Amino acid sequence: MRKKKKIYVAGNWKMNLDLKEAEQFYAVFNRHYRSHPHVKVMIAPAFTHLYRMVYLYEDTDVEIMAQNMHWAAKGAYTGEVSAAMLKSVGVETVILGHSERRQYFCETDEILQKKVQRVIEENMTAVFCVGEKWEEREAGRHFQTVADQVKKALFSLHPEDWEEIVIAYEPVWAIGTGQTATPQQADEMHRHIREVIASKYGNQLAGRIPVLYGGSVKPENAAEIFAMENVDGALVGGASLIPEKFLDIIEAAKQYFD
Ligand code: PGA
Repeated sequence: MRKKKKIYVAGNWKMNLDLKEAEQFYAVFNRHYRSHPHVKVMIAPAFTHLYRMVYLYEDTDVEIMAQNMHWAAKGAYTGEVSAAMLKSVGVETVILGHSERRQYFCETDEILQKKVQRVIEENMTAVFCVGEKWEEREAGRHFQTVADQVKKALFSLHPEDWEEIVIAYEPVWAIGTGQTATPQQADEMHRHIREVIASKYGNQLAGRIPVLYGGSVKPENAAEIFAMENVDGALVGGASLIPEKFLDIIEAAKQYFD
């Protein structure tokens, strides 16, 4: 049985909450939040709030992360944000390859591979998202799809670079739909992801890569998801916008270690 040292509870706010709402979230959250040595809490607000959020959460162990960044160091890329800019406001972690970025903003495996390289060059951490569409699962291609996503973006990494990689498995059909993958479906895909990584980097490295599950995680299903052997946490969308719900998911993570 694989032993978990840490559970990640990461909130992905997407394009939700203006600055005032984000501050109100903090006011409620911070009144009730109690840290736990084995639970890592992260929140990804919009770019516009990062500076303020890093400041607000400074006295907590909550990490503020970004939802995206550009692959280039700097230059003529109107509307984009670089890794160095993120670091300059205290952000060290970035979500990459979210299915909404792949679907609506044409992010390909090649682009993501460049973004991952930038993260490594800047000594940052990536929460790298993978996941199949419903048609792919129906056609029995889900394991192959996810393996390809992992290989194309991450197999140019050196073994030591993997220290900076967290993977989030988010089946596209489960995102924002209320339809969660069963804990067994999540666990078997997470195991598959580890096998894919192990095929190039060995079992030891594959065993210690955090693999989070995302897709309609809520207080009602968090505990059973966290209980699965290969699940190291959750990337939470909708339920992370409501402090009480996000706190309940954090509680479920804490209870795993009780
Ligand atoms: P959801 O989103 O929890 O609203 O399904 C998850 C995500 O897209 O990260």
